[in-house]
Amino acid sequence: MMKLCLVAGARPNFVKIAPIVEAINYYRHSHNKGIEYYLVHTGQHYDEKMSKLFFNDLGIPPSDIDLEVGSASHAIQTAEIMKRFEKVCLKEKPTHVLVVGDVNSTIACALVASKLGIKVVHVEAGLRSFDRDMPEEINRVLTDAISDFLFITEENARENLRNEGIPENKIYFAGNVMIDTLLKHKQKALKSEILNTLGLLNDSPTEKSHLITDYCVLTIHRPSNVDDKTTFQGIIEALTEISQQIPIIIPVHPRTLNRINEFGFADSFIWHSNPESPFKISTTGIYCIDPLGYLDFLQLTSHAKIVLTDSGGIQEETTILGIPCVTLRENTERPITVTQGTNVIAGIKKENIIKATFSQLALFKEPVKPSVPPLWDGKASNRIVEILAGEA
Ligand code: UD1
Repeated sequence: MMKLCLVAGARPNFVKIAPIVEAINYYRHSHNKGIEYYLVHTGQHYDEKMSKLFFNDLGIPPSDIDLEVGSASHAIQTAEIMKRFEKVCLKEKPTHVLVVGDVNSTIACALVASKLGIKVVHVEAGLRSFDRDMPEEINRVLTDAISDFLFITEENARENLRNEGIPENKIYFAGNVMIDTLLKHKQKALKSEILNTLGLLNDSPTEKSHLITDYCVLTIHRPSNVDDKTTFQGIIEALTEISQQIPIIIPVHPRTLNRINEFGFADSFIWHSNPESPFKISTTGIYCIDPLGYLDFLQLTSHAKIVLTDSGGIQEETTILGIPCVTLRENTERPITVTQGTNVIAGIKKENIIKATFSQLALFKEPVKPSVPPLWDGKASNRIVEILAGEA
């Protein structure tokens, strides 16, 4: 029988692993043939708001094993995950290890499994930014090189894998598990109180509630954007100019918060540190809030006029939501969000960010009907599980 070890370590992993767990449980119910599985949390992300909140929001069962590695340099974090994960594999003897995405936990666990002769399954394979300065790009290339099952989210990925000599019979086009999660939770997110909490809804008892202002959501956490003081300063200058026209709301990632404090940038922002006395968002300003759980974040982005981000997953989510997206990077590993979706790549220079944002706002003055890339239909996880079960 197939014994599958599922690995999740960092925030975006939880969003991807949730529908896979559900699809396995569904398969076990609907087929006689069982799949045994257990979930390993590496502990790469450990804060309540970066981890537990996602398990709760997405209904992920508690992990069976927590490696509790925590934060460290890339080498130490990756090595520590490997040391601890090897012990788990030796004890549990999985037949397959399934990793998702491109974080340090992904490559660390894939490498351990591969060296022990355990089959490696990579979900979200083949994405390439062709930028080796990105730690995730190294993780992607290496994980794919040692994987036995490569599940891709878009056809471009197949081409990338072919060019790296990956045999065609290892590649499966299954769709996008992150979109499985989005489609499943869209309705539930409507119940989130986040718009109220931030004072974004009118509170007149006579009128139907509506947004008091358009707003922009920004997420930023890439080392290339926030670890270099001059680059980060230029981005903040762009945001300051944009926020004269439309308020910007930033759920602040822990890495970004550390840099803001270290570089003395805190005065550029309005802070929402006390949930008991929330601020009201007015028409101008850059507002910082704590990282949000999945449902609150989905509700906030679903109602945004525009999203600025350096995340990969958010480029995909805005595509499905039909919300214009400006990517604060020089490249993307998810080209379909540009060719078919709502995304533009602005780079990280002040003028380019401002220009791209205002042209996106002009282009998307009226809401657009989202264009759905092939197989981003909410069924990717089921396809993956069917394929794996068929092989076992
Ligand atoms: C990691 C991923 C990145 C992903 C991101 C999502 C890698 C190489 N990078 O980047 O691809 O987009 O997660 O968030 O795996 N910290 C906390 N609490 C936490 C986690 C982190 O305070 O729960 C702080 C620590 O100071 C830590 C820093 O954030 O050093 C960075 O965390 P880390 O996991 O190393 O990388 P991310 O920048 O989050």
